[in-house]
Amino acid sequence: MNKADPKKFRVKSFGCQMNVYDGERMNEMLVDQGMTRADEGEDADLVVLNTCHIREKAAEKVYSDIGRLRKKDGSTPMIAVAGCVAQAEGKEISRRAPTVDIVVGPQAYHRLPELIARAKTGRKALDTDMPANSKFDVLPVRQKQARPNAFLTVQEGCDKFCTYCVVPYTRGAEISRPWADLIDEAKALVDGGAKEITLLGQNVNAWRGADQSGKDRGLDGLIRALDRISGLERIRYTTSHPNDMTQELIEAHGDVAKLMPYLHLPVQSGSNAILKAMNRSHTTESYLTILERVRHVRPDIAISGDFIVGFPGESDRDFEDTLEVVRQANYSQAYSFKYSPRAGTPAATMEDQIAPEIMNERLQRLQALLNEQQHAFNRQAVGRTTQALLERKGKLDGQLVGKTPWLQSVHIIAPDLAIGDMVDVDIESAGPNSLAGRLNERIAA
Ligand code: 5AD
Ligand code: SF4
Repeated sequence: MNKADPKKFRVKSFGCQMNVYDGERMNEMLVDQGMTRADEGEDADLVVLNTCHIREKAAEKVYSDIGRLRKKDGSTPMIAVAGCVAQAEGKEISRRAPTVDIVVGPQAYHRLPELIARAKTGRKALDTDMPANSKFDVLPVRQKQARPNAFLTVQEGCDKFCTYCVVPYTRGAEISRPWADLIDEAKALVDGGAKEITLLGQNVNAWRGADQSGKDRGLDGLIRALDRISGLERIRYTTSHPNDMTQELIEAHGDVAKLMPYLHLPVQSGSNAILKAMNRSHTTESYLTILERVRHVRPDIAISGDFIVGFPGESDRDFEDTLEVVRQANYSQAYSFKYSPRAGTPAATMEDQIAPEIMNERLQRLQALLNEQQHAFNRQAVGRTTQALLERKGKLDGQLVGKTPWLQSVHIIAPDLAIGDMVDVDIESAGPNSLAGRLNERIAA
């Protein structure tokens, strides 16, 4: 089949979990339209690149990916660029990459079927609107799940405008999806085989909505309602802003059994001057106080975070303050990045941009400390018995990889078990990035 009438498609998602979620919904929608997913190694007539704009040179990478898209006979498939690069670049994409047929932003992908119909006639199709009527209202209901761990986008967009970040421009203003829709979608995911649901949002803990009786609730209320869905065993949420970490949500970590002991709470920097320049509207002190309060109700909670080194104006002293916050917070896992300017954001034109050598050196020192903490956290698990939800096959024969409640990967050899099983594992060894153990036969029997 050809570009004029695509039958087989492939969606390639890059970047964050919200993109993974969007990619799954695009897949389900295209199947609902009568198309089929191309198998691994098989030609697709339509390729959707669901792009991410957060990393450096994101757009350049997309252009080079587009250049490489070829079918086995040398022809180009129908190409759709979706996601945040589509939103940010818009028309520029078709100008620089004439083989692209469709450009569609993250708030408009429910219109893909119409855009494909237009592209079939040989015309270019562009949709980067942020329509008032939500895509969620028109997407088909959730299908059977390929994995036991499902994503559910509950909130999108961001009104915080951190000075380095493109998200408020690419994903738009903060919106919360309605309560009833989320409960219904969660139930559909569980009916489809999901045992764990991760609630997603750029500012997931800013979620607000009216429950079935009209009462205004925060994310803690939604989590408590999901806790009552039978068959659902684990609830997670990501990613959160310190300022939206309410006392109610903190308390949920103490008394909602299905809410996993893991909190991803980015601080970005340990210097109050840099936090101010970043427009983060929290301080290192207020951040550390939140961690104390969460640990008070859930002492074993794993804390994760995001860091940017080399933000414009960051002095040696500012960076030392970041290391100090890391020592005090004691992370189980974290992501760290070199600052990179994003066109259109305030930080991109700030004075005192930091030299690359300094950024590299700071990033190395920060990552060495974070790795040390992560390894120490993993080592604490050795000798213990831990529950794991098996999520995928490992590289070795009969090996399965699962996740502990603290989101550590754990490898076991268990030829008789399957993806989706919840098992008890005796942890035998710990590396910086994962654990290994054996099935606890006593409990399993
Ligand atoms: N430069 C470096 N890191 C960034 N992040 C977001 N924007 C930038 C940027 N311009 C990081 C932040 C955020 C994570 C998703 O990506 O740490 O929390
Ligand atoms: Fe970006 Fe800040 Fe919003 Fe997070 S809170 S998405 S870093 S603007």
